[in-house]
Amino acid sequence: MEAPIVTIRSLKDHVGKEITLQGWLYHKTGKGKLQFLQVRDGTGLCQAVVFRNNVGDDNFEIAKALTQESSLVLRGMVKADGRAPGVPGGFEVDVSYIEPVGISDPYPIQPKEHGVEFLMQNRHLWLRSSRQWAAMRVRATIVRAIRDWLDNNGYVNIDTPIITPAAAEGTTTLFEIDYHGEPAYLAQTGQLYNEANIFAFGKVYCFGPTFRAEKSKTRRHLQEFWMVEPEIAFCTLDDLMDIEQEFVSYIVQRCLVDCASELAILERDTTFLQRVTPPFPRLHYDDAVEMINAAAAKGELVPGYPDPVPSIEWGDDFGSPHETYIAAQFDKPVFVHHYPTAVKAFYMEPEPGRPEICRSVDLLAPEGYGEITGGSERMSDANRLISTIQRHNLPMEAYGWYVDLRRYGSVPHSGFGLGVERTVAWICGLDHVRETIAFPRTLTTMRP
Ligand code: 4AD
Ligand code: MG
Repeated sequence: MEAPIVTIRSLKDHVGKEITLQGWLYHKTGKGKLQFLQVRDGTGLCQAVVFRNNVGDDNFEIAKALTQESSLVLRGMVKADGRAPGVPGGFEVDVSYIEPVGISDPYPIQPKEHGVEFLMQNRHLWLRSSRQWAAMRVRATIVRAIRDWLDNNGYVNIDTPIITPAAAEGTTTLFEIDYHGEPAYLAQTGQLYNEANIFAFGKVYCFGPTFRAEKSKTRRHLQEFWMVEPEIAFCTLDDLMDIEQEFVSYIVQRCLVDCASELAILERDTTFLQRVTPPFPRLHYDDAVEMINAAAAKGELVPGYPDPVPSIEWGDDFGSPHETYIAAQFDKPVFVHHYPTAVKAFYMEPEPGRPEICRSVDLLAPEGYGEITGGSERMSDANRLISTIQRHNLPMEAYGWYVDLRRYGSVPHSGFGLGVERTVAWICGLDHVRETIAFPRTLTTMRP
């Protein structure tokens, strides 16, 4: 009989038909004349039932001897409502024939609790586990949603270089490389090049890996992460927040629709995510500081932690307890804008009449996930930019072209960067960014 090769994800289209699956054995239980195989094929997980009377004695013994993670090909009839516990999707295959492809050695990852360190050392295998699989699929959907929204809203994707001669986001997190005898750095951002590109294309984005030698070990920082950076000509800080809230809402809503089964595997409570629609609240840094200090004075605790909210001096950057506290005061992501100029990057436009604050904005995610995007209106005056570059002791010869952009038809312009890993952590409800990318680069490890 004809038994086409199909994927587990498409089983719903083959109910009552004989099909062929190619995959791996995830788990197995059995008793008497029955073996229940949980089979995964990259697109999903299903239960395959092997009944001795259907497959014959020899084939039954083969099924019974299959080890966890052995690869296999099986043929069988798709049944609609085999709702095996732990198997999402609810489709079952009544096996008529099964054949091993590669028998697996005893598999290091067992269906029990393992320590994170062990799992990270076995990241190349851990990716097969259903929670990791679900998180990576959500990530892929986020990336698709990012591109779809930007491509459908008139942004031109112009990629920016990875090897750069100058710092853009501070000199303390640079990865230096040897560029034929000259020092160069892995890109911390594509923004400065994006700013050149808007004068040719109006609205652009770059999307790629970003490198920062972060010296502290946190749940939110990687050494290598992916960032999408839209940049827009004739755009003020307020316009930028309008764009960001549309963009972020689209990404979240798209995941809720396209990744419902993955979010279910991750046991993500989606209550907060469902509320992510424009507009988002906007909070001035001055007011944020007041809120934090009022909470600190009352001895309020950081939501989700046993620690009190720490007070803050006006002028300091927020620590993660501050961000968590602020975000918890709202039922949607919240923009905090007009941070002190001294804690932000050199290129941000100072607020006219109040140069101690700048036209910057961070978007803080709910539920303690922290800063998801960072952006600003850029300095548009050549002379002001030159004196700022000098004040920051940055090498002018590396920024001459960047100043040029302010000489030939300067316009108010703005942009932001969204960190993919932090967005994945938030949408999936993962408490550490190391599980949001296939092979994370952290302060302590770059293996495997
Ligand atoms: O706030 P950041 O540093 O902004 C920029 O780099 C700007 N040049 C972007 C722009 O305006 N075009 O970084 C932007 C985002 C953060 O909000 C965060 O989500 C993410 O990038 N991010 C990191 N993610 C993981 N690990 C790190 N070490 C990160 N540093 C920043
Ligand atoms: Mg930032």
